[in-house]
This record gives sequence, C-alpha cells and structure tokens, in this order.
Amino acid sequence: MATLIKGGRIVTAEGDYEGEVLIENGKVRALGQDLPAADGVDVHDASGLLVMPGAVDVHTHLDWEFGTARTVDTFGTGTMAAAFGGTTSVIDFANQSHGKSPLEGLEDWHERCRSRCVDVGAHMIVLDPFPQALADLRTLAREEGVTSFKLFMAYPNVLMVDDGVCFYVMREAAKHGAVVCVHAENGYAINILVQEAVAAGNTAPKYHYLTRPPELEGEATARAITLAEYAGAPLYVVHVTCSQALDAVARAKDRSDLIHGETCTQYLFLTSQELERPGFEGAKYVFTPPLRSQAHQDELWQGLRRGDLSVVSTDHCPFCFEEQPYGMKFSKRQGEAEGFHKIPNGGPGIEHRFSVFFDGAVSKRGMSLSKFVELMATNPAKLFGIHPKKGTIAVGSDADIVLFDPVARWTIRAAEQHSRVDYSLFEGFEVQGKVQKTFLRGNLIVDGDQWLGREGMGEFLKRGESGRL
Ligand code: URP
Ligand code: ZN
Ligand code: ZN
Repeated sequence: MATLIKGGRIVTAEGDYEGEVLIENGKVRALGQDLPAADGVDVHDASGLLVMPGAVDVHTHLDWEFGTARTVDTFGTGTMAAAFGGTTSVIDFANQSHGKSPLEGLEDWHERCRSRCVDVGAHMIVLDPFPQALADLRTLAREEGVTSFKLFMAYPNVLMVDDGVCFYVMREAAKHGAVVCVHAENGYAINILVQEAVAAGNTAPKYHYLTRPPELEGEATARAITLAEYAGAPLYVVHVTCSQALDAVARAKDRSDLIHGETCTQYLFLTSQELERPGFEGAKYVFTPPLRSQAHQDELWQGLRRGDLSVVSTDHCPFCFEEQPYGMKFSKRQGEAEGFHKIPNGGPGIEHRFSVFFDGAVSKRGMSLSKFVELMATNPAKLFGIHPKKGTIAVGSDADIVLFDPVARWTIRAAEQHSRVDYSLFEGFEVQGKVQKTFLRGNLIVDGDQWLGREGMGEFLKRGESGRL
C-alpha cells in the first residue's frame, strides 16, 4: 500500500522545501515534485501544513514503579497520547533491581511494554554494579539494543548511586558504544535540607523547590562531567534546569563532543511560582529537579539558541492529582498528610510537547523550523542510536511523519487529553500550532481527533551506538 503526501512544506533539520513524500512499505520511498504514484495510492493533501518527522521523546517513565507510587499511563495510553502530540518514537526507562541482573529488568520492561502504540526503546537504570551486572551491560548494549544507561545522583534509598557506581558504569559504557544518562543533583546535601525542613514543620509543596537549590544541581552536573570525561564515556545530562548546570555542560561542550544536555518543556514555560499555589495544588508541579526562577528559564532558552542544549524532552512521569479513579498508588495525594517529601515526584507532558514548544519557540521566539525539528526529533534520534531510521524525512527512513498546522490556535485542556493523568502542566495555555495527522511507519494513526492506531502496533527500537551527534 502506497501513500502520497502532497502540497506541504517538508521540514528537516537540514532545511525546508515544498515537496511530496511517497511512502511504500512503511518507508519513505521518494521525495520531490510530481512524484509518479501508482493507481490506488492513498493521497493526503498537506496544503498549508508542515510535513515534519515524527517527534522522538527520549525521556519517559511509563507504567513505572517509583518508590511507593506507580505512574498512571500504561504503555498503551502513554504512547497513544504521544501520537496525538506528534511523537512516534519514545525511549523509556527499564530498571535493574538490587542484587538482580539488568537483563531481568529489561525482560520485565518488555512485558509491560507490549501495549505500545508507537515505537519504543529502553534505557537501563543501573543501581547495583556487581561483577555479573557490569558484564550484562555489555550484553545490553551489544545484543539487546539498549545503548544507554541511567544513573541517579539523587533520590537516596530509592534510586541514588554513589560516585563509584557512576564511574564503574561510565567505564562500561565507554567500552560498548553506550551513553550514560545522568540525573544530576547532590542527593546527600538535598536529603539534609529536606530533613531539616520537615523537622521545622515546613511541609507545604513549595518546600520541594526550596530544598533543592540550583547550586546542588550545578555541583552534581560538574561532578558527573568530570567522571565521564575521565572514564571516556559519552554523557547525556537529563533535565537541565538552571544556569549552574547549563554552564557546566556548555564548558564541557567546548572541549568535548561527548557531553550533551537536555531540558524539558516544563522548565521552559513554568517557574517555581507554580509550587506556591494555595493548598495542595502545588503538588501538581512537584517533580525533580524542581521548577526554577524566570532568570534560570531565560538562560535555558539561551542555551537552546547557542546549541549548549541539544534536546527538549518531557520527562513524562504522570501521577494523577486526585486519588480516583486509579487509586492512591497513582496519586499525588499520597503525600498530602505527611508533606512535600512524600509527594510522588513527576509530571505529565508526553502529549503537549510538540505544540507547546512550537508555540513558544517558533511562533513566539522566531526559532527556525529546522532548529525546531532538530530539537524535537533529529538530535534525540542521533544521540540515542536510531538515526536515520528515525528523526528525519529521507529516502529509506521510516515513514514517521507529522502533518502540522502552524497557524491553528487551540487551548490545552486536560479534559481533552488522551493520557490517563487528570491534569496538565499547561492547562489553559493558548497555543499556535496543532498536529493534524500522525503516521507511524506509513500507517495513519491520528487523524484530527480520531484515533486510528492500536495497542501493540509499536515496535521495539533496538538501538545502535549512542552518545554522538
Ligand atoms: O520528578 C521526576 N522527574 N520524576 C521522574 C524521575 C526523574 O527524576 O526523572
Ligand atoms: Zn530525573
Ligand atoms: Zn525522568
């Protein structure tokens, strides 16, 4: 079955032009003008629309056990929401358990991931580097297509590892073509600040941001970079939120091609003021690292402009605000009685990244369309070993394509989203730019408000060498 997309403006990281896309067998077969189309070809008129590569979100936590909580989106609901938002590839987090092989963690993740509606790959969270576990990292990278390992320098007693673990894992990554992703905050110092706040009776949601200062993100970022450089490993600093961390990444990028930084939509559009909302409302904005001041946000925009930050992802880690209908395990409310330190950390975003970022970056700040595509699709695909199959529109690449109306205006409402979460960080945002159609490997899966995809149609992304642009 062939599909022809005609009349639109094709945008890639390299440039944009008027042209047609011919799709056959799930791949881009030809690009150009007046392409010869066989009888029965399925024609889509993209007049007035942008024809962009399906977006790649490399930071999600779907159906994930996190301390006492579990994220509320299954792979089915989370990836359907992604598709409505123009995202056709997701890289999610599998995790090792203490004393167990990371390969078991991957097996468990594969089970949970079966309901995926778009293509999904896995990073591996490493917690326990006993000798066989380190040997298994080789298998992950070289045989299983899991070419990124995640380390948390925060969340003591849940996910945090010390510098020795970081160094062990970085050396393995360097040997096997993998990149290390790091959550960089000084978890030891933050733990002290949190305990002191709680002891003083300061338990409102706003103490989440007041106990996690940017200096402690900057310190950990610089430390992770030093360790990675010494180990010779590529490093991807996830969710950079502040000038201190950004400066560390920018300095490292001046001397190395192996250090990269990501920020997320929420840090570009929201500030710590959200945590000051009355009552428990601020809990919706409890995620880590926390939202920062306007000055830090402005720095992040500069970092994107200069190229010091290479990716805008979501860190989609959705917990409902209310207990119902899924239960307390999935709800922010479980932290209400004891205080901010018991609120599940995480926020939703998988569905709205494309439009919110398009509006803020292209419509309001004049970012070029190619730069937009680079940050949403091409760079993440390159850094995580799935380019040029994903992240571009080129002959031979997967036909993951978004038809995007750059002038449509609409208002974001949680009530209309497809994720199972009961709120949006961007509630009431009036944005310019809306996904009209999403194709996954040539299959039309979103057509306006209509869902044409199905659970299970997403493929596992077995990834290649990672950590380079
Ligand atoms: O608060 C967050 N970001 N939760 C998800 C885990 C992480 O730190 O990425
Ligand atoms: Zn994190
Ligand atoms: Zn995360």
